[in-house]
Amino acid sequence: MLNWREADFSAYTSTIAYPSKEEEERQKEAMHTAEGLVADLTAKLGHAPSCCVVTFGCQMNARDSEKIQGVLECVGFTATESEEADLVIYNTCTVRDNANQRVYGRLGHLKSMKQKNPEKRIALCGCMIQEPDVIEKLKTSYRFVDLLFGTHNIYKFPELLCKLLTKNTEDRMLIDVWKSTDAIVEDLPVVRKYPFKSGVNIMFGCDNFCTYCIVPYVRGRERSRSSREILQEVEKLAADGVVEVMLLGQNVNSYGNGLPGELTFPELLQEVEKVDGIKRIRFMTSHPKDLSDELIAVMRDSKKICRHLHLPVQSGSTEVLRKMNRRYTREQYLELVAKLRREIPDLSLTTDIIVGFPGETKEDLQQTIDLVNEVKYDNAYTFIYSPRTGTPAASYPKTMTEEEIKEGFDELLKAVQKNAQEAVLRLEGRTEEVLVEEINTHDPGLMTGRLSNNVLVHFPGDESMIGKFYTVKLTENHGFYYIGEKV
Ligand code: SAH
Ligand code: SF4
Ligand code: F3S
Repeated sequence: MLNWREADFSAYTSTIAYPSKEEEERQKEAMHTAEGLVADLTAKLGHAPSCCVVTFGCQMNARDSEKIQGVLECVGFTATESEEADLVIYNTCTVRDNANQRVYGRLGHLKSMKQKNPEKRIALCGCMIQEPDVIEKLKTSYRFVDLLFGTHNIYKFPELLCKLLTKNTEDRMLIDVWKSTDAIVEDLPVVRKYPFKSGVNIMFGCDNFCTYCIVPYVRGRERSRSSREILQEVEKLAADGVVEVMLLGQNVNSYGNGLPGELTFPELLQEVEKVDGIKRIRFMTSHPKDLSDELIAVMRDSKKICRHLHLPVQSGSTEVLRKMNRRYTREQYLELVAKLRREIPDLSLTTDIIVGFPGETKEDLQQTIDLVNEVKYDNAYTFIYSPRTGTPAASYPKTMTEEEIKEGFDELLKAVQKNAQEAVLRLEGRTEEVLVEEINTHDPGLMTGRLSNNVLVHFPGDESMIGKFYTVKLTENHGFYYIGEKV
């Protein structure tokens, strides 16, 4: 198996960064060419070709998929949810091995669909494709895939699409993966999944190198966008009917580092708050080591920033946190939580936890469970540690057996669920503002919306309510959500 750091990408990578504006022009030109190619394909097929973009992974990937979708629809593809589409793109994730396995599993189905539809094209992009051993595996065992591209050159998608559309199905797989980039190219078209809410990238990459995590290797070094570009995007979104924005970055608290004279993250939030039309502001993710008093004060005093903070703890044991390179102790984390609770009493707190990190003992895990009971999280995402090639922890010796990990995981999950249910129960009978997001998937007579603190509420209504705010009484508690009544 190839190792990250020693791998030679030179066969299929380049690291040229184009000046932003020039590159934008180049991609716009490629979109014109693609439009012509799609028109030819439409004539050949007798209908506009369909496309299906499937997102694996986090909000960052979801936002990238919206950009890919934007380009495709602009040049004449029709979007569909069905993987029978003429063009299928998997935007992959590699944060844990099960994410990779899901992709390989689904590729098998695509192969048989492609045999039936000779015009079908398959492309893979995203974090998994930044791994050299993945590329090797795809090249040898999944040769029916037409195009691979990575996370750094997604802005070149129009150009890549032209190459894909002129490729014969039996031609060699097209591979364009870059090791890194400094370029941040703005202004590609975007098709949003929801008309009323949108993610906004404020930074890319990560410099934290938590020892278990592959993200810094597949997403590259931390780069912040300029606040001017971010605010222009938010203003444009607001003008387009967006009422909720989520500012996205692997560690939003270090926004602006490396850009002299740039706003800090709390200052950026204050500027976003001033944008008319934006009613709710969320952000993801906050690293506990960088969460400042200034940010807490801005959240406390804000009318628009949601009463929800995702604050990944990963472990409740100082020793494990040290091995993870998280750069805070159990005590420092608990102090931070106490400060947050003091300043913003109605804040909902959620977290991420890893179980079975190499070096973790049963006692360490007990400390995590105790911490969950002490913090009383509104929710927690729990993961079993998955070794990632090239990360430091992948070579650390294991301490717990699979069985001990499984048992500990189940116990942790029980604690998480008990606290989550109690947190939701505390809201019973309250009247809260709800942003309606969609028709309930089980009962079309109900609409599904979210409170500021992210709790889901279902209440009677119709499609015309999507994207609007309603005052709702939380009448029936159903464990993790409410059935409510409009007041
Ligand atoms: N930047 C964010 C999220 C990164 S990935 C942060 O710092 O929190 C999302 C979550 O996946 C992480 O918080 C972590 O809990 C989990 N994760 C990352 N790498 C993992 C691995 N190798 N095995 C198991 N879980 C992992
Ligand atoms: Fe991964 Fe840590 Fe960066 Fe989050 S902060 S993306 S867990 S390295
Ligand atoms: Fe996965 Fe990449 Fe996000 S690895 S979690 S999609 S940054």
